[in-house]
Amino acid sequence: MPVIITTVAALRAACSAARSEGRSVGLVPTMGYLHDGHRSLMRAARAECDFVVTTIFVNPLQFGPTEDLDRYPRDLEGDIAACRDEGVDAVFAPTVLELYPQYPPATTVHVAGLTDALCGSSRPGHFDGVTTIVAKLFSIAGPCRAYFGRKDAQQLAVITRMAADLDLAVDVIGCPLVREHDGLARSSRNAYLDPHQREVAPAIFAALRAGVDAVRAGARSARALEAIVTERLAAHPELRVEYAEVRDAATIAPIERLEGQVLLAVAVFCGSTRLIDNVALRVSGESVDADLGIGWNS
Ligand code: PAF
Repeated sequence: MPVIITTVAALRAACSAARSEGRSVGLVPTMGYLHDGHRSLMRAARAECDFVVTTIFVNPLQFGPTEDLDRYPRDLEGDIAACRDEGVDAVFAPTVLELYPQYPPATTVHVAGLTDALCGSSRPGHFDGVTTIVAKLFSIAGPCRAYFGRKDAQQLAVITRMAADLDLAVDVIGCPLVREHDGLARSSRNAYLDPHQREVAPAIFAALRAGVDAVRAGARSARALEAIVTERLAAHPELRVEYAEVRDAATIAPIERLEGQVLLAVAVFCGSTRLIDNVALRVSGESVDADLGIGWNS
């Protein structure tokens, strides 16, 4: 059974004790309601680190005033069971007051540029909330490795850049995007979908795959690729496209032609539920390597 820690001081002490015994600390930051995507992060951490900490904290700082903070799904008991099954050593589940004695904090972390586009355009302040809490967790736990899913590809790029810019002594590790069998990207927010929406939602991955097929067939224009994906999504009246964009995978900068590490990312409303998904492409001349994630029936 993992030890359940609720205070900053106790987490700091547990991680520092592990480090002083020469044990490597692996951190898996989450907002709970753990699914197979989170489990794959914990498995990767378990395989590579001696002392694994999963954090469960619905971080208010990364939610906008009209977003789903109050109804975000929570199940601490189920989450602790999942952590136990994955061999996690410690679960950090603090209150908001514990992590933010003064709310909002006067000090936040802002990663410029990478946070302007994609989710950053429609969720102002969201990434500042993410980088602030992740920086705090890094500072408290002092992990040598921290694990994040590639479903949140922009978040991963932003956190990687923050760690590099601030010389944080942590390896930020991106783990494969995990899908349901029908291709829907695993997300805690999938719990919001009603049965009909749940049936329609795999169309998001189908649209991304149509885009990948076009690239494999030779398409190299970023705008043309965005148009293909948007058109496929628009065929479903239940879906409303917030964005379907092609960007440089590391810098999130816009690109015209597909070459190198490319991110094809979408945000789509299915009813009132906002879902994100992406595929990462490595394009080198004629050669195309697509990372479509794992867990789906191909
Ligand atoms: O990806 C998430 O669940 C959150 O954004 C994170 C990284 C745990 C920060 O709250």
